[in-house]
Amino acid sequence: AGPCDIYASGGTPCVAAHSTTRALFSAFTGSLYQVKRASDSATLNIAPLSAGGVANAAAQDSFCASTTCLITTIFDQSGNANHLTQAPPGGFNGPDAGGLDNLAAATGAPVTLNGQKAYGVFVAPGTGYRNDKTTKIATGDAAQGMYAVLDGTHFNGGCCFDYGNAETSAHDTGNGHMEAIYFGTETTWGTGNGNGPWIMADLENGLFSGNTTGKNTADPTQTARFLTAVVKGEPGHWAIRGGSATGTTLGTFYSGGRPTVAGYNPMHKEGAIILGIGGDNSNGAQGTFYEGAMTSGFPADATENSVQANIAAAKYATTSLTSGPAISVGSAVSFRATTACCTTRFIAHTGAQVNTQVVDSTSTSALKLSASWTVVAGLGNSACVSFESRDTPGSFIRHFDFELMVNANDGSKQFAEDATFCPQAGLNGQGNSIRAWGYPTRFFRHFNDLGYAASNGGVDTFDATSLFNDDVSFVVSAAFA
Ligand code: AHR
Ligand code: AHR
Repeated sequence: AGPCDIYASGGTPCVAAHSTTRALFSAFTGSLYQVKRASDSATLNIAPLSAGGVANAAAQDSFCASTTCLITTIFDQSGNANHLTQAPPGGFNGPDAGGLDNLAAATGAPVTLNGQKAYGVFVAPGTGYRNDKTTKIATGDAAQGMYAVLDGTHFNGGCCFDYGNAETSAHDTGNGHMEAIYFGTETTWGTGNGNGPWIMADLENGLFSGNTTGKNTADPTQTARFLTAVVKGEPGHWAIRGGSATGTTLGTFYSGGRPTVAGYNPMHKEGAIILGIGGDNSNGAQGTFYEGAMTSGFPADATENSVQANIAAAKYATTSLTSGPAISVGSAVSFRATTACCTTRFIAHTGAQVNTQVVDSTSTSALKLSASWTVVAGLGNSACVSFESRDTPGSFIRHFDFELMVNANDGSKQFAEDATFCPQAGLNGQGNSIRAWGYPTRFFRHFNDLGYAASNGGVDTFDATSLFNDDVSFVVSAAFA
């Protein structure tokens, strides 16, 4: 059985079921998600390898070879056509053209399930999916349940990494107009124990860990790499549950009355579905989604415990975030451009600005040093790497407003993440393409001889599709100095 077969046996069937990693019904053979590649804008639907099985990631890999792909649609497996697509502008605009949110990179969150490769949905700030015209999703005070499997180590304090029920207008229409799972360290409203991240409920104009927007010490800081998060609500009552997605138990972190603040009892659910954003399209949050579902009716704890056992049996595990020629921690490297214009140019810096400069064995030692980088374990994720300046120890290549800079490490989580890069096989077949960990649609790019974290066809000039593969491919060699 799949999670949604278990919910159905419990009398609380899935009315929406979303996953890029696996089928959530044992008989499901349809499309899990759709990817679109940049090279020719063609799309491909990805199905499970077998009924009820893991997604056919190999089909994605071959379709997306030598280009980049975005996840355009996360299909609803429940038969209600509650598919998730690129979120439209609402109370807030997204960063993409027309105020839409960005789409996720198709390869941003690789994992294995029982040893088989699959990809989750890596939500960088600005990324969001939504469906404002759903079928059978709870409205008003009607009961619903939700679960999601998330990366418990990918979060921030922005508003709001959510999955669940929200406004059909993408605007804040008042207290009680949402009921969604939230995960992260946003502290404007409720909090849990410790420093977070916490599983909370986004009920609109408030993230709730309990029946007030205060602290609920029974809602623990989450530390599992793979996390199961549960929020459910019925008239006069709701609950938060959670636990490691590879463990056997779910804890109950809150179960009780509706918030005492006006507007949340009865609830005013509208029945849209959001992923990665707030109800009003607030899009500053980050997180990773692997699978999730929404039910009709209030699931019993025992039903959710069986769903949790099913998730554990799927055996989510990490896999490599890098590919291509090894860029080893402890080595010192230089990066040579491969675009025809520029094959004698190397990534260097002048002060804080990253650029490319012509460097060779006869260059001054100062110039050689400015084009030389020590490879260290990724400051924000040790499965990737960071590049420390050879002439300015303690300073690292990081992106800021998607320009590459060399800045001193200020010790913040933001800096660490902005300075973490996951090298891939070079998109043009040469060397490596250096992907930004926190924004997997983006790679080191030289553009007019300056350095950027660029996406393949984005809103900025430096995102131009022309020459993208060449501009993001660098031959990495032993450092000049
Ligand atoms: O409830 C928290 C957030 O507040 C909601 O997600 C958003 O719609 C509003 O800004
Ligand atoms: O480079 C993009 C973002 O710009 C960085 O993550 C952040 O530090 C800055 O706001």
